[in-house]
This record gives sequence, C-alpha cells and structure tokens, in this order.
Amino acid sequence: MNRRDFLKQSGLLLAASTLPLSLVEIAFAKAEDNFSFAYISDAHIQQIKGTQFVRNWDRGLMRAVAEANLLDPKPDFIMFGGDLAQLGKPEEIDHGLEILSALHQKPRFVLGEHDFYLDMGEYWAKKVSEHHYSFDHKGVHFVVLNSILTHDEWSNKWSSPEERMAMMAGLDNPLGSPFMVGEAQRNWLKADLDKVDKTTPVVVFSHSPLQKIYKGWNFWTDDAEQVQALLKPFNKVTVIYGHVHQIQYNQIGNISFHSVMATSWPWPYPSTYAQAEQFLPKLTVEMNRADPFFERDATGWQLIDIATGNTAVHYQLPENKPRTVAFNPETKRPEDSEYQQQREVPQTHY
Ligand SMILES: [Fe+2]
Ligand SMILES: [Fe+2]
Repeated sequence: MNRRDFLKQSGLLLAASTLPLSLVEIAFAKAEDNFSFAYISDAHIQQIKGTQFVRNWDRGLMRAVAEANLLDPKPDFIMFGGDLAQLGKPEEIDHGLEILSALHQKPRFVLGEHDFYLDMGEYWAKKVSEHHYSFDHKGVHFVVLNSILTHDEWSNKWSSPEERMAMMAGLDNPLGSPFMVGEAQRNWLKADLDKVDKTTPVVVFSHSPLQKIYKGWNFWTDDAEQVQALLKPFNKVTVIYGHVHQIQYNQIGNISFHSVMATSWPWPYPSTYAQAEQFLPKLTVEMNRADPFFERDATGWQLIDIATGNTAVHYQLPENKPRTVAFNPETKRPEDSEYQQQREVPQTHY
C-alpha cells in the first residue's frame, strides 16, 4: 500500500468517527523506511469515589484505544501524551492504565502536570514510566521530556499534596506556577543530543508547548528558548505536544511545532481571552468553537507526514470539516490548505 492509499484508507476508516486519536506517519524517500505511530493524549481520568469515574473521560480514552487497535497498517508504536489522571491519584492512574491495557501494543508515556503534582511523580515513576528518556526507531531519534516541572519553593509551600495538585490543576489559577524543563534535564538533553548525527530527524514529545503561548494558562514553558537552542543544530526537528487540548502549529527557526488533540475535552483558545497578553502563533488558524451538544466535539486525530524536512498534518475532526496543515517550502512554515470554516452537522449522531 502506498502512502496515498494509506491516507485514503485511514480517512475512510476514521473520518466519520469521533476518534480522539492522533496517528503520525513519518515518510522517507525509501518507502520501506516509512512508519507510523499513533498518539493519544490528555485523558484526564477522574475518580468520583470508589470505583466511580467520570464517564465522559473514560469513554474518550476507550474510544481512542478501540480505534488504535483497528488501524491498518498497524502503527509501529503508540504514545500517550500526558494527563492520564485528573488529580494524580493512584486510582486514576491505575484506571487509566487499565483502559490502555486493551491496546494491542504497549504504549510509551509522556508525563503531564495532572499526573505529577500530587506526589511529584513518584507513583508514575513506579507504575508507568520514566519521566524523561529517549529512543531510536528506524532512523529517527525520539526524545520524551518532562516539561511540567516548576520551582521547589512553589511545590513545597502548600499545606497538603492535594492542595498543591488542585492549584496546578486549574486552567486559570493565578496561584499556579509556570512550567519548565529545568537545568538538570536540559543538561541530560544536551548530552543525549550530542550523540546524535545532525542529519538525523529528531522528534521531541513534551506535555506543555516548548514555546510561549499564554502564561496565564500555562500554555507555556519558561525555558522554551533554551530547549529550542539545543535543537537548533539539527536539520529536521518536530516538537509534538499535548496539554492545550486544541490545534496549534508554529514554525520557529528549524523547529516545527504541532499540538495533538485531547480525548477528554477542548480548551478555549487564549485569543478569546482578549484582556490578557497572549502569543498564539499567528500561523495557527483556530478550530471552530466546540459545540457543547456534541460530547466529543473538538477532539480529533491527525496524521503527520515528515518527508525530507517538510511536514504535513492531516487533521480529521469529528463532526467538522477535516483540515490539512502542510509545510510550504517557499515560505518555510506550516500553512493551512483547508480551513475549518463550516460545520457539517451530522444527521444521525445519536
Ligand atoms: Fe490536559
Ligand atoms: Fe496538561
């Protein structure tokens, strides 16, 4: 099957579904080197009490798992992009892992702030994954960063772990604290990248954007520029991040940035909060405002194709027009070829 057929088949399989899943394909000059991976993010599994969990968030993750198992061709691996839990509880992480255990492939994980700030990532490290690591796959170097760290003074000032978690869990809480990768991890990243040939494609997974968009909602990483500087020597760099629960894309120097969708809910765009200074990339054409009558609206999946340094992202948005964001070699940045201007209301939704 060639890539066009693959795209077509994936589109036919998934376009009409409410799939909150990201499928990523990396394409090279030699077809046999091509591969794809799926990306699921921001499930926010939330315990009510005992064995009761918020049904809507469970359903979003279950749907993504079911669809990931149907993908053909099978993705080489699956990433989970962080915020598996809502309040970092072991029960939430365990329940999320239980849902993910239905995947036919064992996923790799990125850590989100909702997984971290109850016990500073202790349970995650024990049960789920290292907080940062790298791996190589078919000629691509992948790096997973923990981008949601903050200052010890902030982390240690609360009367309980639950209070600390609650302060970091809100979108718009001025008592929160900005995220960062931090010096120790940047030193690790530098040493890791020093071993990689500069022509090797590098894909970085983070939870928060490794760029500054809006500080008030932590769509922000304080040391983003320092991380970007470490990535500067490479020819082909893509950063894929969750956390923002909406489509964003940008080009900063040699680095293409793409967000992935959440399986739980969409966040509003910072630009709707007109009284605050925000830096939503001017390139980004915003998604339609989510329709609250549709449970999974403004979730979705995308297929990312990286060939000879060019990036094309094919978004399939349930209950909305699909979108394509493609790298334009003339302007050297991602651009929309299809805007999401008209909502196509399904006739047989429920
Ligand atoms: Fe999230
Ligand atoms: Fe997050």
